[in-house]
Amino acid sequence: MRLLQLAFLAALASGIGALLVYIAGVSNFDGPPRLSSDDLEALSSLQSHFGKCVSANGLGLQALRGRDDCEVSLQFPSDTVPKWKDPKSGKLEGLTFDFNLCEAVATWEQVRNSTTVLTREYIDALPNGWRDYAWQRINKGALLNQCENKTLCIEKLLLVLPDNPPYTPRQYSRCAVIGNSGDLLRNKFGEEIDSYDAVFRENGAPLENFTEYVGTKSMFRLLNRGSAKALDKVAELYEKGKEVLIVKTTIHDIMNKMIREVPILNPVYLMLGASFGSAAKGTGLKALEFALSICDTVDMYGFTVDPGYKEWTRYFSESRQGHTPLHGRAYYQMMECLGLIKIHSPMRSDPNRIVKSVPSRSLITAARIASEKLLRRVGAGSSDPLAKCSIIAKQIKGKSKQVSSSRKAAVEHQKYVKGTTMYPLEHHPGHGQLCTVPSR
Ligand SMILES: *[C@@H]1O[C@H](CO)[C@@H](O)[C@H](O)[C@H]1NC(C)=O
Ligand SMILES: *[C@@H]1O[C@H](CO)[C@@H](O)[C@H](O)[C@H]1NC(C)=O
Ligand SMILES: *[C@@H]1O[C@H](CO)[C@@H](O)[C@H](O)[C@H]1NC(C)=O
Repeated sequence: MRLLQLAFLAALASGIGALLVYIAGVSNFDGPPRLSSDDLEALSSLQSHFGKCVSANGLGLQALRGRDDCEVSLQFPSDTVPKWKDPKSGKLEGLTFDFNLCEAVATWEQVRNSTTVLTREYIDALPNGWRDYAWQRINKGALLNQCENKTLCIEKLLLVLPDNPPYTPRQYSRCAVIGNSGDLLRNKFGEEIDSYDAVFRENGAPLENFTEYVGTKSMFRLLNRGSAKALDKVAELYEKGKEVLIVKTTIHDIMNKMIREVPILNPVYLMLGASFGSAAKGTGLKALEFALSICDTVDMYGFTVDPGYKEWTRYFSESRQGHTPLHGRAYYQMMECLGLIKIHSPMRSDPNRIVKSVPSRSLITAARIASEKLLRRVGAGSSDPLAKCSIIAKQIKGKSKQVSSSRKAAVEHQKYVKGTTMYPLEHHPGHGQLCTVPSR
């Protein structure tokens, strides 16, 4: 594992030289960021609205202002009993978590306009994409000598690598992401969940025998490494071939073999996510990210988000090793109060619950623009959507891109970006994006 990380860093270092050439022209890292008084006003207004929203919806959580308009601490009531211990340090989880609102608002708003499925056009367009990136998405990819034999790498990725993005931003209207928490058995959310346009599930979550609680509908399933290796079992959980399986990590030879031989009829893709740092890594968060990149609104069920949890159980199996539950709860509350998601849980079970004091769309936009300037994001403050592109390439011809949805919101978004597809670039300075534009 260590060795792999080292190899990864080395690849990154050798890749950066090439990438810098591309970003030098479009981003300016010199001088202090230029924020107008409107920008400063937007950031300070976001802080205060955010604080009110957390108090109104956070079931005891409070948001405390940090040293500046970006920093915020989410604090649990002092009588909260943390139960999770870090297995390495043996320390109990704390009750206060620091977040950077500016980072969060800038990065998450970008997710809403991004494509988060790995495609062939992405690897082709990425400078040295086949040499420096492709092998990282293949299990034991370090043995491939940076895809020295490209044919071999293509062969390994072929079954999970569409030429063009299969989905576009705003393709679906109302979406629900369903976690696996045992809490789900406390409400019969089934019918409510089935009323969404698209439902996202995770790992081995079954529907059979639980439909009253978790619904009968499913369209997407996010898979971590373990579940991806048991692709055949996962594919049996829902009507044959129906769910789209999104693998967070890498393609494995075992998976290729199953897809071919079982055979697995479901579309299987690899996810291409933004980097949020260590704050946000679990499958649940990745499912939210994926949903946010193709839906207008995202509601969440079955995440352990209520105070006073006793143990972590899955609704379909014994308790398991949890991980940083209080941190997760605080993070989801931040997302709700940035207008990204709506939380449903036993303590927030009214389907008509309104998230109180959530900052308005116009305030979020103003704060996002101000944050981009402050953080020196590529294209900050520009009204040209392509200003955020640090790498631009022509779209692959061939199978014409399916903007299969005729939803007005999706079509309007395509017009706004002039048919451009925007992909996140992990670990890229200024969070620039890789953009592919229509080849006319
Ligand atoms: C590259 O990989 C392909 C596909 O597995 C194989 O047929 C070919 O012999 C390999 N080429 C070399 C030079 O190893
Ligand atoms: C559902 O319940 C039946 C009867 O108890 C059982 O045989 C079956 O394995 C269950 N299905 C799942 C997916 O747990
Ligand atoms: C995302 O796209 C919408 C148009 O659909 C636009 O109004 C908004 O500014 C874009 N957001 C970002 C972060 O570029």
